[in-house]
Amino acid sequence: MNRTRTKTHIPPETVDEIRTRSDIVEVISECGVPLRPAGRDYKALCPFHDEKTPSFSVSVEKQIFHCFGCQTGGNVISFVQKYEGKSFIETITWLAERLNISLPSQDARASANRKRFTSLEELNRFAVQYYHRQLLTENIGGRAMQYLRHRGVKPQTLKLFQLGYAKSARRDLVKAATDEGWTIQQLVDAGLIKNEEHGPQDRFWNRLLFPIQNERGTPVGFGGRALSEEHQPKYLNSPETILYNKSKVLYNLDKARQAIYRKGNALLVEGYMDALMLYQHGVENVVAACGTSMSEAHATLLKRFTPEVILVYDGDSAGLQAAQRGLHRLLAAGLRVRIALMPNGEDPDSFTRQHGAEAFAALTEKAINLIEFQIQTGVQQQNIHRVDVKTQVAKDISATLINIQNRIERSEYVKYAAKELHLSPEMLWHELRDLGLKEAPAPYRTRTNKTAPQKLSPRAQIEAQLIEALIQSPTLIAYVKTQFHHADFTEPNFVQLAQLLWEANSENEEFNIQNLLNKCHDEKLRAFISNALLRKTPPNLQARVDGCLRKLRHFIFKDMEQRVRSHALAEGADEFETLKELVKLSDQRRALDAQPIHEPGAYQ
Ligand code: CTP
Ligand code: MN
Repeated sequence: MNRTRTKTHIPPETVDEIRTRSDIVEVISECGVPLRPAGRDYKALCPFHDEKTPSFSVSVEKQIFHCFGCQTGGNVISFVQKYEGKSFIETITWLAERLNISLPSQDARASANRKRFTSLEELNRFAVQYYHRQLLTENIGGRAMQYLRHRGVKPQTLKLFQLGYAKSARRDLVKAATDEGWTIQQLVDAGLIKNEEHGPQDRFWNRLLFPIQNERGTPVGFGGRALSEEHQPKYLNSPETILYNKSKVLYNLDKARQAIYRKGNALLVEGYMDALMLYQHGVENVVAACGTSMSEAHATLLKRFTPEVILVYDGDSAGLQAAQRGLHRLLAAGLRVRIALMPNGEDPDSFTRQHGAEAFAALTEKAINLIEFQIQTGVQQQNIHRVDVKTQVAKDISATLINIQNRIERSEYVKYAAKELHLSPEMLWHELRDLGLKEAPAPYRTRTNKTAPQKLSPRAQIEAQLIEALIQSPTLIAYVKTQFHHADFTEPNFVQLAQLLWEANSENEEFNIQNLLNKCHDEKLRAFISNALLRKTPPNLQARVDGCLRKLRHFIFKDMEQRVRSHALAEGADEFETLKELVKLSDQRRALDAQPIHEPGAYQ
């Protein structure tokens, strides 16, 4: 899959055609974001963060979006990429399909595979609808309906989740699907039936079915719950198929993703019923792993939508152990992980039914950071004072600590764990190095607030102004380029942006900001561009550019003076020479104020 993806190449002209023909307002609206006209633009509550007043703007004229709240922005392609969690190629394919544009065909095998995929997806859709109809048919699904009512599932919930019922017959689906023209082989490939000695048999019978959809809402399998204690196993799930890779699918992610964006976190529960009932109670940012333990791929999948996961587990020991298993993978994917424990013997479904959604929300709000949690549970062990127990706990905690991606955070937790365990931090660092940690501890670093916007240096602020002016008025690029190298910028983001701008200007074609956005793979840079485009342009950009250039020269000369000085100090260089050079530099710097940078005719 990945291999065909990286091989796929879509020519830039095609990308541009697809971009031009995909109206950003239409696409964003189709994605379900309710846009409201505001002057010549559109506004909405930002789908990428939680907010009460709309700071998400879409410009029809410029065909870009930007959120002034969370600083996300770009063009229609970047929007779909981020909102739908798709890769660039997937996004282009998706937009092309929407416009009925056919992309240059990939090799024959890839397209045959694609057909096979599409047909299995269709077959799954058929099965979902078929089983759902069975559930709604009184004399077939009556008992299953009664079971659902008894468990408090509302009619609109079972419709939304397309719950189904497979009746007791062993060849019900086999018949219904083959009548519709599906082949036995396709049914087997989709995991819906099994080919047994005495002929094909339905996989599911007399079970309540939870259709499992991938993050795009395509049905890929089922979880089937038995309706009585005697019928075992309690849950029977679809096998893995070419569509269904269990470690890459999270139940309810298709419906939860918007809420996950809004809330900034995802709740991870254990069961289908937990996810469904929480959703019914208005807790929509909830997903479940489908009968498998948390995988690395699950973590990567979640990371696409959120920086934080709250694990919601039963308070019993099985739940706890499950929580610990998932932990490393989530941390290793760079997710922040917190844990909320249900009171003993309760799961989110039973808890919410008894105590309501507010009590549940209170529990998740109190969710404690999983590392602190692990340290606490370790420390609270009965015989923690015993050397062997303490050693084991220290080892377990180190195994977790080594997965923390952020060095500063890791260092803080080492300190915290050492204090709680009455050990010296050096002991834990030692343990971590034994586990393969290469870096030295970073005690000299201070904690920084990652969410606070980085404060730019005075020089970088001018750089920002200059780049912004160039984005707003690209005709000035040629002029600035002759005087400034992109490497003259100090802030790495601006070096990159300047490089892109300089390159875009040299391509002998008309400057196109949309092409630039497509080439820009860094979200931060795209947001900088969309922000610049949506901000009010100052009346005289030429004057602003000149002002920026003058100030930047100041910084550059000052920088040089500084270097000459420290060189003199370090090397014991000829004092007179140094002095001469310094005088020259400061003269040049002063002359800047007197002499206008912009000579008439330098640019139009
Ligand atoms: N599970 C499974 N196969 C089993 C048992 C469990 O795949 N034989 C998975 C299912 O995804 C299930 C989850 O593990 O939803 C949690 O199992 P459990 O706690 O036993 O069931 P609940 O989800 O609480 O289901 P219910 O409330 O209907 O009893
Ligand atoms: Mn349950």
